[in-house]
Amino acid sequence: MKKQTSDDNSPLAIAQHRAARLLRYSGFRAAISGQANHDAICVGYAHAAIHGAGLLLTGNAGTGKTLAAKSLFAKSYHIRKERDDAGLPCQQVYLFELHSGEHLTRLDNWEPTEGRTENVLLDDVGVEEIAVDYGQRRDTVASFINRWYAWRTADKVGQIVITTNLTGRQLVDRYGSRSIDRLMELCVTVALEGKSRRQTLPVFAVRDGKLDQVAGRA
Ligand SMILES: Nc1ncnc2c1ncn2[C@@H]1O[C@H](COP(=O)(O)OP(=O)(O)OP(=O)(O)O)[C@@H](O)[C@H]1O
Ligand SMILES: [Mg+2]
Repeated sequence: MKKQTSDDNSPLAIAQHRAARLLRYSGFRAAISGQANHDAICVGYAHAAIHGAGLLLTGNAGTGKTLAAKSLFAKSYHIRKERDDAGLPCQQVYLFELHSGEHLTRLDNWEPTEGRTENVLLDDVGVEEIAVDYGQRRDTVASFINRWYAWRTADKVGQIVITTNLTGRQLVDRYGSRSIDRLMELCVTVALEGKSRRQTLPVFAVRDGKLDQVAGRA
């Protein structure tokens, strides 16, 4: 990313450098994500900061969305996983991992605390099952987005941060244009490119009586 110079003190540039620092501190490497993905995340974060908005990170599995989201939003605050009101700082991030049924139930029941600015990180939107209660379809995420929008409009909550493998089109198909239209007003979106950066451990196979490494790092 462009090096900050003394006359490059705009709020946007400062926020971008803050993002780069937060990513670096938490082990997010531009060499692994690719410089363009790294810079896009920093630009997205900076625009979110300026607009007082959240961040929606999309991209293929393993592109570093969760690592980036946690580095930028969660690490700087306390991630509050459990309901417990004992002496926590005012500004908190509630983490919901959407592959977990327990987290989905908590998300269904989540309410902002009066007088606090609370952020929410929805990790892996799109992997959750859509629940069916007494024949009624219940979409936790769409309903949460709509509730969050109302809370945000009333200044009752902070930022929402979302990671997903779904594309914009798929988000609309899954959650409906009404919810996603609201989401676009709540979040700056950054679409990451490329394949998974997960390191595959060696995969061995025996062929014709001989051991072969067929995939993974040496
Ligand atoms: N830029 C990066 N620097 C360092 N490690 C990275 C980077 N990108 C990804 N990784 C590593 O790759 C793995 C996958 O990253 P992460 O879980 O953030 O991906 P993801 O985009 O959230 O994937 P998924 O869509 O499957 O949830 C993690 O072990 C993470 O630490
Ligand atoms: Mg993830």
